[in-house]
Amino acid sequence: MTTHTEASVRPQAVISGGGSGIGLASALRLARDGFDLCLLGRREEVLRQAADRIREQTPEARVQCIVADLQDPAQVARAAAEIDGSVDVLLNNAGGNVLDRGEGLEGIAEHFEANFRLNVLTAVLLTEELLPRIARPGGRIISISSIAALRGANGYGAAKAAIHGWMMGLAEQLAPELITVNSIAPGFVPDTGFWDSRRTPETIASRLAQIPMNRPGTPDEVAGAVAYLAGPEGGWTTGQILQVNGGALLGRG
Ligand SMILES: NC(=O)c1ccc[n+]([C@@H]2O[C@H](COP(=O)([O-])OP(=O)(O)OC[C@H]3O[C@@H](n4cnc5c(N)ncnc54)[C@H](OP(=O)(O)O)[C@@H]3O)[C@@H](O)[C@H]2O)c1
Repeated sequence: MTTHTEASVRPQAVISGGGSGIGLASALRLARDGFDLCLLGRREEVLRQAADRIREQTPEARVQCIVADLQDPAQVARAAAEIDGSVDVLLNNAGGNVLDRGEGLEGIAEHFEANFRLNVLTAVLLTEELLPRIARPGGRIISISSIAALRGANGYGAAKAAIHGWMMGLAEQLAPELITVNSIAPGFVPDTGFWDSRRTPETIASRLAQIPMNRPGTPDEVAGAVAYLAGPEGGWTTGQILQVNGGALLGRG
């Protein structure tokens, strides 16, 4: 589903899960900062509505939308081949918390595998496929992990922690080519699809109790961290976990 045709000289940001929540806020912010966009996700209508919002806000930005399940190697390869233009910024944002956990070892294995596929494979497969196309010098790879990686949370926390280990190795590998690789670990950001089925008063109260600033974060605040790592001032920051969480861990990671 390509929604533009004209040539452009703006740099491009490829955003997985760019149709909602933190991904959409990042897309809107990066469009304002001068980027064209390629949004990926599984739901075509969500991507289409996001593209409309971006175009309304920043008519000069080109927006390409590609429907793909990024857990699937074949779909990643097909999606990557469809991406038009340069890849100056890759934001690995797609993910989520698979809470289901069945009985016994089978249930544990399914829980860990599902979280790993959704949070690790989505980032690793897309990055590997796009690696030859990431801008050199100056490319940026940013992966959204979570406070859960640092605080612990079952298969989800373990999968997000895997993102950190992978990110650090890639940062070292790509530094000589002047590509930066970082993670952003958000805390509680309830105005997202991530919390749609769990946004109860009890959950909100328990999460707020863990935040010294006593308020949740917003998708725009995480997008601000993305904009820093994607922008000119982020060029010497690599291999880092940027925590955006209202002081929930006070830098202890
Ligand atoms: N919200 C929070 O409090 C919080 C805190 C820490 C970390 N995070 C992380 O932030 C990231 C963004 O989540 P969000 O909070 O903005 O929630 P969200 O609104 O649910 O965004 C997740 C996005 O990822 C896409 N996605 C999920 N699985 C995918 C797949 N297999 N292939 C392609 N796209 C996929 C979803 O679109 P489709 O369903 O259409 O595919 C959706 O647009 C996630 O990695 C999440 O783990 C969130």
